Amino acid sequence: MSLPLWLDKHIFEVLGAKNCQSNTNMTVIDWDKSDVLNYLGTYFPRSYVESYCIFKQYFENFEINYTSKEELSIFDFGCGTGGEIIGLISAITERFANVKTINIVALDGNKHSLRLYEDVLERFRSQSKIQINNRIAPIEIDDFYDLSIIESVITIQFDIIITFKAICEFVTKQRFEQDNPYKHIANTFLPKLLDKGIMLLVDVTTYNEVSQEWLPKMIDKGLSDVDCEIIGRNTGYNQTFSISHSKKQNDISKIAWRIIEKKYIK
Ligand SMILES: C[S@@+](CC[C@H](N)C(=O)[O-])C[C@H]1O[C@@H](n2cnc3c(N)ncnc32)[C@H](O)[C@@H]1O
Repeated sequence: MSLPLWLDKHIFEVLGAKNCQSNTNMTVIDWDKSDVLNYLGTYFPRSYVESYCIFKQYFENFEINYTSKEELSIFDFGCGTGGEIIGLISAITERFANVKTINIVALDGNKHSLRLYEDVLERFRSQSKIQINNRIAPIEIDDFYDLSIIESVITIQFDIIITFKAICEFVTKQRFEQDNPYKHIANTFLPKLLDKGIMLLVDVTTYNEVSQEWLPKMIDKGLSDVDCEIIGRNTGYNQTFSISHSKKQNDISKIAWRIIEKKYIK
């Protein structure tokens, strides 16, 4: 799939994004503006396409949950430059003409990424017919204590919660010591879902040198300790996406993803 032309032009020509691949186990939280421009030109297009494709397919199967809604709310944990948000809201606006307002809360600890995200969102807004309300939460979560603060200050609930390739950094930095971050983050945010709400967890599929585990295995182990239902996932070990844009043709990304919801008593 190709990046839409307007988005391609905006990130590469207006914002000066660069395409250059980085090493594994990277921790974007510490990156400066020039590193983040490399991120924007390399990984933003991947997150855009992954999110767009996963949600396009999900909306086909669960359309009924959205056709009567005029307003949708989204929370992104570790949004970075926000490729997945733009992919998700593109999939929503294409599929559901009934949705008139989208409310977004986007959390990240890297201010350079947040600035670029806000700029790209503004560009999306300028051509969109719907109302998009955005609130950023510029917060770095150091440990369990910070996560519990977030839990108490987020008092609203969401239709869709997403987290793309952010929890791997919690593993690498041992934010929750040796505990499984997928478990803690899913447990924290699952109660923030509205009725029929979903949470999509996406991560890279590499072997993490710090935890000495493969990340998809850690995701499954973590979620097995959470009171949730897994209602969607990549088949096999990972899913491959192909992304084309002006700086690279057929860029291949591999991710693991799970869609979870609260357990309902049937
Ligand atoms: C690899 S980037 C992914 C960004 C975006 N979700 C995407 O897919 O393009 C990981 C993001 O998580 C954020 N992050 C990592 N650890 C964090 C922490 N402890 N608190 C807040 N944000 C964090 C980083 O700043 C970074 O923007």
